[in-house]
Amino acid sequence: MHHFQYRHGRLYGEDVPVETIVQDVGTPVYIYSRATLTHHFQVFDGAFSHIPHLTCYSVKANSNVAILALLGSLGGGVDIVSGGELFRARRAGIPPAKIVYSGVGKTREEIDYALSEDILMFNIESRQELEAISQRAQALGCTARIALRVNPDVDPKSHPYITTGMEKNKFGIRVDEAIESYRHATRLPHIKVVGIDCHIGSQLTEIQPFVDALKRLRILMERLHALGIPIHYLDLGGGLGITYADEAPPHPVEYAEAILKEMNGLSCTLIFEPGRVIVGNAGILVTRVLYTKSTPTKHFVIVDAGMNDLIRPSLYGAYHHIQPVVPSEREQETVDVVGPICESGDFLARERTLPRLVPRDLLAVMSAGAYGFSMASNYNSRPRPAEILVDGKTYHVIRRRETWDDLVRLENIPLM
Ligand code: LLP
Repeated sequence: MHHFQYRHGRLYGEDVPVETIVQDVGTPVYIYSRATLTHHFQVFDGAFSHIPHLTCYSVKANSNVAILALLGSLGGGVDIVSGGELFRARRAGIPPAKIVYSGVGKTREEIDYALSEDILMFNIESRQELEAISQRAQALGCTARIALRVNPDVDPKSHPYITTGMEKNKFGIRVDEAIESYRHATRLPHIKVVGIDCHIGSQLTEIQPFVDALKRLRILMERLHALGIPIHYLDLGGGLGITYADEAPPHPVEYAEAILKEMNGLSCTLIFEPGRVIVGNAGILVTRVLYTKSTPTKHFVIVDAGMNDLIRPSLYGAYHHIQPVVPSEREQETVDVVGPICESGDFLARERTLPRLVPRDLLAVMSAGAYGFSMASNYNSRPRPAEILVDGKTYHVIRRRETWDDLVRLENIPLM
């Protein structure tokens, strides 16, 4: 469900015509819908309303502070993976008691920052990281609440680049090493074991891998309990998929039912780290056609957004639905929609059937709210797009378009 629909032959974001936004801020532009974000968060969070839980939105999916503030106002916490994400979350007013910190490469500086903020817990990914956090907590005279991120070795059956919970992946601690690591952690005076964590991958479209992971964690929790190591928080990570093309991922309510069934009376607070399912379909990327050209084998539509703005098609061969902002009756053509970047891998869609396009037409790249802007770069010295949050009949610029000055702002020509 989302609020990007046609009305009177024009695409709207909630009650605002996309063309109006484009007239004001230009293209390419990311447009998000407040109503969709709110709905997605409330459906997910509401699915667990009858049990103790915390929904910690995964900042990496879309880290704009306005979006973090919105989700925070709905009661959300956050899952962070860097000091930068912690800074954003705090800037957006997320309370430290609702922040969990994952990631395999936390630096000393980042650990100190998170300790000084007294976040809810660190999701620890290796023995060395445990030692590092223990040492920093000792040096700062505080206690770090921790969970171990366990790698349950289940296949989430999604793209290999976004699979994280298999033995061959770099994430987490092996299940059979976990008990020993927990034992060790309980002996560290500045460490307080509070939880267990896993995240098996992203864009999952089946429930079973989540259930399999939970089964393995349950067994581990029972063993820990028997050893007198109580687990208060069970963090199941994120990963619930969305519909980009014709996938039929489980509805959050179905997901919740499966999880709760598998919990089977286990008493602890559940933590979730959803990213994509909250923001993915709550955002679009609007781009303008610059030129069209044909070769004997291809029709190209060259647009003003490229892989630097939305890298998912180039990086993962990901599918994003593309639709004209103003649909036309022109005949259909099969085209590659490509960007201006000097790379053959710079495309938004390949072999896509669309009504014939001409220069200045506007296209909406759908489902671009997650891992869109947050993975954007300045490659080819292209300023990153503006971000807009639509709210009913109004809209807000939540990040202005970068300028050419912004591109060189941090650079310096030394006197030589
Ligand atoms: N928690 C952890 C520890 C994660 O690593 C991730 C995503 C999430 C939560 C959120 O997962 P989600 O609910 O969004 O699936 N750039 C890729 C996705 C990489 C996901 C990385 N980790 C893409 O564009 O598909």
